[in-house]
Amino acid sequence: MIKRALITGVTGQDGIYLARFLLSQGYEVFGLRRRTSSFTSRPIHEFIESKDYSGNFHLLYGDVTDSLSIVNAIKVSKPDEFYNVAAQSHVDVSFVNPSDTFDATGHGTLRILEAIRLLGIERDVKFYQASTSELFGKVFETPQNENTPFNPRSPYACAKEAAYSVTKLYREAYGLFAVNGILFNHESPLRGETFVTRKITRAFAQMKHKEDFILKLGNLNSLRDWGHAEDYVKAMWMMLQHHSPDDFVVSTGAQYSVRQFCEMAAKFFDYKIEWFGNGPNEKGIDSKTGRLVVEVDPQYFRPTEVETLLGDCSKIRRVLGWSPTKTFQDLVEEMCLADSKLF
Ligand code: GDD
Repeated sequence: MIKRALITGVTGQDGIYLARFLLSQGYEVFGLRRRTSSFTSRPIHEFIESKDYSGNFHLLYGDVTDSLSIVNAIKVSKPDEFYNVAAQSHVDVSFVNPSDTFDATGHGTLRILEAIRLLGIERDVKFYQASTSELFGKVFETPQNENTPFNPRSPYACAKEAAYSVTKLYREAYGLFAVNGILFNHESPLRGETFVTRKITRAFAQMKHKEDFILKLGNLNSLRDWGHAEDYVKAMWMMLQHHSPDDFVVSTGAQYSVRQFCEMAAKFFDYKIEWFGNGPNEKGIDSKTGRLVVEVDPQYFRPTEVETLLGDCSKIRRVLGWSPTKTFQDLVEEMCLADSKLF
């Protein structure tokens, strides 16, 4: 029997890697995407055109803000596994659009769970919820594990907290096989261009061709546990293959600052950064040429910041046998290489 999977948010980084992974496992994959008047989402377009999915990949139009489209997608795809990786996922944007963020990121999860319940298929489908390390926010302990209390610091994280709780609730109240993957930051060449890692790798690639280009960043001292999205989608799938539903932290256990990410990306492009000044006045100069390459711009500071995140992934290592395959350096170099081909 060929297994069937339904993925919301299939046009994003995680959706594309997950679709590829499931297809490689022999699944029939249905991806839900929003209908827009322009076909602007380049990576999914390239993925569809690549035809490496041998006819087993289907795009459905719909949105997690629209219950009827969720019901329709479930009826058409009849999924064995439902992966909800759709969200308004940009933390900074959530301060500007908190209501939209709650609608997609929080209420969207409830709509899916309620659709599953009302259709009476809660014993037939397994549900994966994309939970996040942003839940830990202003952290109570380091490193963070499945028992670390949440302390969200953005409208996005508050919406994800509701989605996390409602997923757990439907598991306990209705016996649905529903799990939360508490994923720490995960990146790749497919990462959106406004997230800090991709913004950095893209900027250094661009600098090589544009003499006066300067990378403008916010908080250089934020610490993150960055992994590779390709490793993390496999963890999502492994959670749904386990004999019972449970929540897992997915991380690398290594932590770097935005500043260190910058330095490593700069090195790939043959720059060597020396830092001068403090706070909003800090600048990064290439010591080889004296060129200004990085500047702090307070417009990228957040009203409340998550200063440090570091995951303890010992549970998923022990229980499911998952572990990351790529190091921080592998990740930065892969992203730099991909962006170096863009310009
Ligand atoms: N985006 C961005 N742009 N972030 C910047 C910048 C900048 O110019 N300068 C500094 N930063 C800092 C942010 O303040 C934050 O502390 C850190 O870089 C990472 O920012 P993002 O890459 O935007 O990711 P995030 O950590 O806020 O959230 C991402 O990871 C979460 C998992 O923990 C998103 O993918 C979330 O959806 C995800 O849940």
